[in-house]
Amino acid sequence: MTQTVTLRRPDDWHLHLRDGAMLRAVLPETTRHFARAIIMPNLVPPVVTGADAAAYRDRITAAVPEGAAFEPLMTLYLTEATDADDVARAHADGLIHAVKLYPAGATTNSASGVRDFDIVRPVLERMAEIGLPLCVHGEVTDSDIDIFDREAVFIDRVLDPLRRDTPGLKVVMEHITTSNGVDYAKSAENIGATITTHHLVINRNHILVGGIKPHYYCLPVAKREEHRRALRAAATSGDATFFLGTDSAPHTDANKETACGCAGCFTATNTMQILAQVFDEDGALDRLEAFTSLNGPAFYGLPLNEDRITLTKGNAATWPDKIDTEDGPVTVFDPGRPIHWHVSD
Ligand code: DOR
Ligand code: ZN
Repeated sequence: MTQTVTLRRPDDWHLHLRDGAMLRAVLPETTRHFARAIIMPNLVPPVVTGADAAAYRDRITAAVPEGAAFEPLMTLYLTEATDADDVARAHADGLIHAVKLYPAGATTNSASGVRDFDIVRPVLERMAEIGLPLCVHGEVTDSDIDIFDREAVFIDRVLDPLRRDTPGLKVVMEHITTSNGVDYAKSAENIGATITTHHLVINRNHILVGGIKPHYYCLPVAKREEHRRALRAAATSGDATFFLGTDSAPHTDANKETACGCAGCFTATNTMQILAQVFDEDGALDRLEAFTSLNGPAFYGLPLNEDRITLTKGNAATWPDKIDTEDGPVTVFDPGRPIHWHVSD
């Protein structure tokens, strides 16, 4: 018997599109299935001002393939020089939907991020006033904190104090990777949490056992199996706190397969197929739509998509191993087992 599921068209609440040739090559992979995406601002140089965001939005819109309908939801990159008035204007104009906080040095292109949280407090207070969410890359950067502990330590040392100091601030804990992240998100008010596709599928063994697998390396790095299970339980629970943010992050193979490889998994191409299988395995197909299409818009105060997509279970699905770009190939995430779900647009 054929199994099918019809969903409101999904959105991706955390996406890296880059710019130029890379943008043109990877954008169709997202627009094939997704109606909207929160666009990460960590370009070089970063998207800091409303004017930067408007120009980047126009470059994205110009790259949307013929016939696709896609709305980029822009964000600003929070720096210690960010101007609260500029942020408020960009929000009032409907241009931006969030501001992204990268602790300086935490990940790819985060050098312009925040070192001293006191300096950005006025911006955060203004955001709380106007209801503009802060998307947080939740890892401390202290060299003495083990990389596998950086999310849990961030919650205690940075996130919880920051939220207490800025009552009413809406926060998205981006790409949570631990049961600590799940528990904190559940326990608090005004919090959403995105979960990636790859963190539902891999644990740290997948990166390290039997040789280093650079295409499974991302930040925050995948943790122990018990954490992956906690993420699966959260994502498939239907709890409105949790929604899909793929963190699909293209890097060329040359930049991944090297002595100091970049962080990022590229999942735009096969996210929906993999998620359907994950939710099917967990007996939660009836909650997939909440995760991909309902909880995110509710958190961001945006309308639901009216369009639908249909997922069908059948033979093993196929997709290209790599996406060709003018900068070189980008490897598509390998879920490590056959995926039997297909998306028909
Ligand atoms: O793995 C990651 N890649 N994590 C991030 O936080 C940034 C991203 C990127 O931009 O490549
Ligand atoms: Zn990201």
